[in-house]
Parts: sequence; C-alpha cells; structure tokens
Amino acid sequence: NEETIYQILVSDSMSKEGLLPLLESDNVRCIEKNVNDVDDLTQFDALLVRSATTVDAELLAKMPNLKIVARAGVGVDNIDLDAATKHGVVVINAPDGNTISTAEHTFAMIMSLMRNIPQAYASIKAGEWNRKAFQGFELRGKTLGIVGFGRIGTQLAQRAKAFEMSLLVFDPFLTKERAEKVGVQTASLEEVLSQSDIITVHTPLTKETKGLLGMENIAKTKRGVFLINCARGGIIDEQALKHYLENGHVAGVALDVFEEEPVVDHELMSYPRVIATPHIAASTLEAQLNVAAQVSEEVLRFLQGEPVSNS
Ligand code: MLT
Repeated sequence: NEETIYQILVSDSMSKEGLLPLLESDNVRCIEKNVNDVDDLTQFDALLVRSATTVDAELLAKMPNLKIVARAGVGVDNIDLDAATKHGVVVINAPDGNTISTAEHTFAMIMSLMRNIPQAYASIKAGEWNRKAFQGFELRGKTLGIVGFGRIGTQLAQRAKAFEMSLLVFDPFLTKERAEKVGVQTASLEEVLSQSDIITVHTPLTKETKGLLGMENIAKTKRGVFLINCARGGIIDEQALKHYLENGHVAGVALDVFEEEPVVDHELMSYPRVIATPHIAASTLEAQLNVAAQVSEEVLRFLQGEPVSNS
C-alpha cells in the first residue's frame, strides 16, 4: 500500500550513511531516539538496535504495532527471541557486515598481547624508558588455535597464515571439505587445547559455549598459553582466568568482551598480563556503515512485503 507511512525507531546510535535507505524512503518516518526517551512506543512498526537496547517482553508489550526488530550487528543476545516470537515480531541481524573488522581487531589484540604494546605504551607515556620489561614473542611458527570457525574465524585464519603461523581449528560444524578449501587443519577441542600457543574463541554465546574455556579446559592447555576473547563475554570463564593467571599457567589474556558489560573497575583490569578493549571489535567506520545499511535495506524490504534473509 503506497499510502502507508511506516514508523521506525532507531534506538541505538548508528551510522547515518548506513541508515540512508530508510531516511530517504518516502513511506518511512524514521526517529533516532532511545526507547527510554520515547513516551509513546505504540506507533512503531520497526525497531533498530545495536547492543545497548534490551528488547525484552516488557518492551515488546509496549510496542503492539511492532513487526520487526533489526539488530545492526551479529549477536542477538540483547533480544528475547521467545518473547519476540510470542508477539509475532520478526528478528533480523546483519551477520556479515562486521566480520573483517572483528577479525582485524582480534589480530591487533594478538599482536598487542605478544609484543606487550599496551604495557609498553603505558610505560613510555608515564615517562619511563624500559626496553627490558617488554620482550615479547614472534608469531611465526606459533600455533594458533581457533575455536569456532565461522565467518570471523575464517578471516582470522587467512591473516594468521600471512604471519606464517600454524593453525588448528575446532568447530563441530566444520566439514573436512570446507577446512581443506580454506587450507586449515581441523582438530578436536582437546588437540586445540593441548597444542596451541595462542587460543582465540569465535563462537556465539550459547549453553554449549558458556564457560567453554573454564577451570577444566584451561588446565588442558600448554603452560604459558595466551587466550583471546573478541566474541562474547563468558565463553572464557573470568574466575578461571584469574586462577590461571595467578598461578602463571596462562601467560596473557586479551579481552574485548566481558561477562557483564559495561565494565567498571573490573577485577581482571588489575592483572598486568590482561589487556582489554571495551567491546570495540566491530567499531570501525566500515563495519558500522555495513551493518546499518544491511538492516536498513532488510527492514525496508520486509515492510514492503518482500522476503527477508537473516531472520
Ligand atoms: C556484534 O554482535 O555484532 C558485535 O558484538 C558488535 C556489536 O555489539 O555491535
């Protein structure tokens, strides 16, 4: 129906350029405002969010006209999918717009960790000149264990190969054919744990992956292992991390994500062998443009009655 004007609420801040398909559409009225700052939520047909807005049953009950929630990003863990289904609301995401950014950030974290760059930076900024304290390790010849081999894991593997690293990949859904195509060796979780010098996780957070690297599994890693989490907080158990950092089994940790976010005065921040960033792996100009554009186009298609993917 050409007369219909669709009301769209963009609750979290998003790339303006990415939102252009919506902003320029004649039959769309787009409001960029947090859900908590809008008095009357009943009018909206579509809701666009990143990770800051929690879409739960309570919010959905206040939005009786809502037809679609779009997550400009990958993880839909801030959206109650069961409640959405009950309300007849479709949920879509932007599964590949931030793949490269996340793989690159993970690589930056690996390099920072192996060369003590954050620590050396803090030291020189504090007026010191300490060349002895920051001896690191080369990546060449080291074994990188990748747990979870979807889009991000695959891109990371390609970058690691350029650095002449050996790769061991564990993913229960990875076929031998695909592994061969990408040129990686599939391994069991046990093999990844026991043979890797650096282990990075790239899975969603599910019942199966929560605490996957916990007390028991970290014990199976090499002494002196480095661990990276740029996926979801909780895949590597934070209490277990403290334990193994304290007894020296884990040599270093790089975290972009945490069990509870935002992080304020997190205990792990006081460990010198922990480097961290505030969930910014997908925060690049390119990724944010991609994910906002991807969901904008999908939402438009959906409202116009066309089929959508990524739901
Ligand atoms: C995602 O799920 O896409 C990333 O964690 C980035 C984000 O939260 O926006």
